[in-house]
Amino acid sequence: MEAKKIIYSGIQPSGVITLGNYVGAISNWLELQKSEDTQCIYSIVDMHSLTVRQDPAELRKRTLSFFAQYLACGLDPDKNIMYIQSHVSEHAELCWILNCFTYVGEASRMTQFKEKSAKHADNVNMGLMDYPILMAADILLYNTSLVPIGIDQKQHLEMARDIAARFNNIYGDVFTVPEGYIPTTGAKVMSLQDPTSKMSKSDPDENATIMLIDDNDAIRRKIKRAVTDSDSRVYLSDEKPGIKNLLTIYASCNGISLEDAEKACTDMNYGTFKTAVADSVVNVLEPIRNRYLDIVGDKEYIMKVAREGAERAKSIAFRTMRKVYKKVGFVER
Ligand code: TYM
Repeated sequence: MEAKKIIYSGIQPSGVITLGNYVGAISNWLELQKSEDTQCIYSIVDMHSLTVRQDPAELRKRTLSFFAQYLACGLDPDKNIMYIQSHVSEHAELCWILNCFTYVGEASRMTQFKEKSAKHADNVNMGLMDYPILMAADILLYNTSLVPIGIDQKQHLEMARDIAARFNNIYGDVFTVPEGYIPTTGAKVMSLQDPTSKMSKSDPDENATIMLIDDNDAIRRKIKRAVTDSDSRVYLSDEKPGIKNLLTIYASCNGISLEDAEKACTDMNYGTFKTAVADSVVNVLEPIRNRYLDIVGDKEYIMKVAREGAERAKSIAFRTMRKVYKKVGFVER
């Protein structure tokens, strides 16, 4: 019997899960879990979120809330391995090994490292630079073939591939070199207030992002206020980033191409168009929010799923580490 194809991805528990995270990543996770030939592994990467200062109580609460949101989206704990990164200590162990096979130059060239260093100038800690190497460890621990992500993580995935190939070159075939899986529409959903920058989980302007668990009124209000342009016709153009973003959201929420979204909406005025976009988003998010409200209070259930997931993840991660330690020449315990 052929081994199942491993799919791995995660979200860090910072800010809030946004429509961007859903469209760019989670919607593909939901598709990939359907196949009998895949083993999907989805984590909440809490260790990554420590690269910026966190309030401990808040972080704990947010991690469980994010886990409940995974479940509410329809990720199936019977089919997938779902767990919290810090529950599997092998992530930190492999990160150390991979650090010794990564050059400071390549890590410091990462766009996100440069951006975050500028944004948190008073806290440019080692973790910030090590962030993509920990991400490489996440992926390589499980012999992952496919990593469903948005376009902003593409550079980090390239780095994971480089590190895997470098390690394999020295020690033989240890790691699977992973491929990225990036959606054709919705790989980068933009801010509703500044459609030239990414919709971000930690944007302080709450009108800029739609949260996965926003209520219907909030969704409608935010889309109504979305920045567009002084034109009045709906069509795709790089000169109309606000409209392009709303068309992207419309297309993703209706499971159609950007071109078909343009065709469907081109006769609408901006008011009607925004209502149509809001309706599509509400259709997708309302059931998720309702399920979330059912699940989030049941901490026992969430922890049961997280614990079982961590056990399953650990049994794979442990085997990888044993192999890696042997390859690099550590004495077996
Ligand atoms: P994070 O937590 O920033 O984002 C989670 C996922 O959502 C995607 N995404 C978007 N997609 C479309 N439009 C947007 N506006 C948007 N914003 C975010 C991201 O590309 C990502 O897929 N380093 C990762 C987490 C991580 C990871 C991993 C991912 C850690 N280890 C291993 C895959 C595999 C991150 O910070 O994503």
